[in-house]
Amino acid sequence: MPTPERVGELAADIFARQIAKKPDSVLGVATGSSPLTTYQALAKRIADENLDTSQLSAFALDEYIGLPYDHDQSYHYVINETVTKPLGLDPARVHVPAGMAENPAEAGREYERAIEAAGGVDVQMLGVGGNGHIGFNEPSSSLASRTRVKTLAPKTVADNARFFDKASLVPTHCLTQGIGTIMSARRLVLVANGASKADAVAALAEGPVSAMCPASVLQMHERATVIIDEAAAAKLQLREYYEYVWNNKTVQRPE
Ligand code: F6R
Repeated sequence: MPTPERVGELAADIFARQIAKKPDSVLGVATGSSPLTTYQALAKRIADENLDTSQLSAFALDEYIGLPYDHDQSYHYVINETVTKPLGLDPARVHVPAGMAENPAEAGREYERAIEAAGGVDVQMLGVGGNGHIGFNEPSSSLASRTRVKTLAPKTVADNARFFDKASLVPTHCLTQGIGTIMSARRLVLVANGASKADAVAALAEGPVSAMCPASVLQMHERATVIIDEAAAAKLQLREYYEYVWNNKTVQRPE
């Protein structure tokens, strides 16, 4: 896509159609910069089409350990500001891993049970880290993992330092859905923008399926869509082919 805004509109189209088809859908939501244009476009679609969001549930991918939920970088806070409020979701139906739990490992197992009790995730939003992570599943994560405690890679701490006053304030641990958890969603939508994602995008789409690039596991999902801007597409070997396929799609798609 030419711009991050178009990436967002296209991803939002998938979510809007899902909500229209099944108003009590279970959405998987991500934090970070990548999904913001999607949430903005989706909020507009919800308003324009008067979509009912009161019955939706949402499960976030991850949360820092030890960051109070009212801290403006905690994912409880971020999800509330970027997803729950703009999409008009019922806060009681929006779930974020309990990074402040006394026993985070048990909280991870409870999170798995909650996703299952809700019927599983219908559509999962994903960004990708510059190192190929999805959720906070850093390179070398088990491709079968479930929600659990992880240590953030130094690259992720450095990447996320931009959100904190100084790098030393970035938490070093998190509670994250596992790769197996993410793969259990019925549909995956990964968005990426910018040159800093070009290597990760090439590795996830065209590299071997490998724990060294956790996002490459999307190759094994039967319904995964990757939506990226020009800069993020820069290192794809088959880029012309993907454009050809896109331009020759016979199924209905937005302008
Ligand atoms: C966020 C998450 C991460 C981010 C990834 C990209 O919940 O799970 O995998 O999607 O770190 O972050 P941005 O979009 O900020 O580049």
